Amino acid sequence: MNNLCFILLCICLSKISSAADTLTSSQNITDGKSLVSPGGVFELGFFSPGISKSRYLGIWYKNIPVKTVVWVANRGTPINDSSGHLLISTTAGSLVLLNKNKTVFWSSNSTKQTQNISPVLQLLDTGNLILRDEKEGANSESYLWQSFDYPSDTLLPGMKLGWDLRTGLNRRLTAWKSPDDPSPGDLTWEMLLHNYPEPAMFKGGKSF
Ligand SMILES: *[C@@H]1O[C@H](CO)[C@@H](O)[C@H](O)[C@H]1NC(C)=O
Ligand SMILES: *[C@@H]1O[C@H](CO)[C@@H](O)[C@H](O)[C@H]1NC(C)=O
Ligand SMILES: *[C@@H]1O[C@H](CO)[C@@H](O)[C@H](O)[C@H]1NC(C)=O
Ligand SMILES: *[C@@H]1O[C@H](CO)[C@@H](O)[C@H](O)[C@H]1NC(C)=O
Repeated sequence: MNNLCFILLCICLSKISSAADTLTSSQNITDGKSLVSPGGVFELGFFSPGISKSRYLGIWYKNIPVKTVVWVANRGTPINDSSGHLLISTTAGSLVLLNKNKTVFWSSNSTKQTQNISPVLQLLDTGNLILRDEKEGANSESYLWQSFDYPSDTLLPGMKLGWDLRTGLNRRLTAWKSPDDPSPGDLTWEMLLHNYPEPAMFKGGKSF
C-alpha cells in the first residue's frame, strides 16, 4: 500500500516537473508564474532588478538565493505593471511578450520556416531557452530560436560568442546599465572579424 502511494506520488511529481519546463502554444506565462528546467537548475519568469519596480522577463539560477540573472528578454523595454505575459504566437512561430493592453514589449525573431509546425518553448538545464517544433527532437540545428544566440551579459557553458556568418548574427555580451537597469550599457565584449577570431572589449563603441 505504501509502495503504491509512493509510486503514484512519483508519477504525479514527474508529471508536474515535466509540465513546468515547457510551454505550448495554447499556454502562457504570466507575471508570478515561471518555467523551471527539468533538473531545477534555471528558472524563467518575471523579476524586478535591484530597487527597480519595473518588470522584466528573464532567466536566473533557481538554486542561488541571491537572484543571479543570466538572460533578459525585454532589456530596454520594461513593463511597468504586473500584467506581462509571454506566449507563443502561432502565426509568426515566435515568442511575444505582451502587457494587458497587448502592447508588444519584446518578441523573438525566428528566421526559419514556421508553417505546419507545433512550436513548444523549453527551458533546458544549460540555461538555454529554446523554441522548437514539437515533432523535432532536441537537436540544436533544428531550433526555431534559442536564447543562447542572443546573450545578455552572461556567458554560460555551451554558449558561443562571435559571428554566425551564415545568418549575420553577432553574438556578444553587453553589460547592464546598472544593477537596477538591465538595458544595454556602454560595455560590450565581442569577437572581431579577422583571419583568426580575436575578442575585444568596447566602451561606447570604442575598443580599449
Ligand atoms: C493565460 O492562461 C490562463 C490559463 O490557460 C488563462 O486563464 C489566461 O486567460 C491566459 N492569460 C492571458 C493573458 O492570455
Ligand atoms: C505605464 O505606462 C503607460 C504607458 O507608457 C502609462 O500610460 C501608465 O500610466 C503607466 N502605468 C504606471 C502604473 O506607471
Ligand atoms: C492601457 O490602455 C489604457 C487605455 O487604452 C491606458 O489608459 C493605460 O495607460 C494603458 N496601460 C499601459 C500599461 O500601457
Ligand atoms: C528581426 O529580423 C528582421 C529581418 O530579418 C531584422 O530586420 C530585425 O532587426 C530583427 N529584429 C530583432 C529584434 O532581432
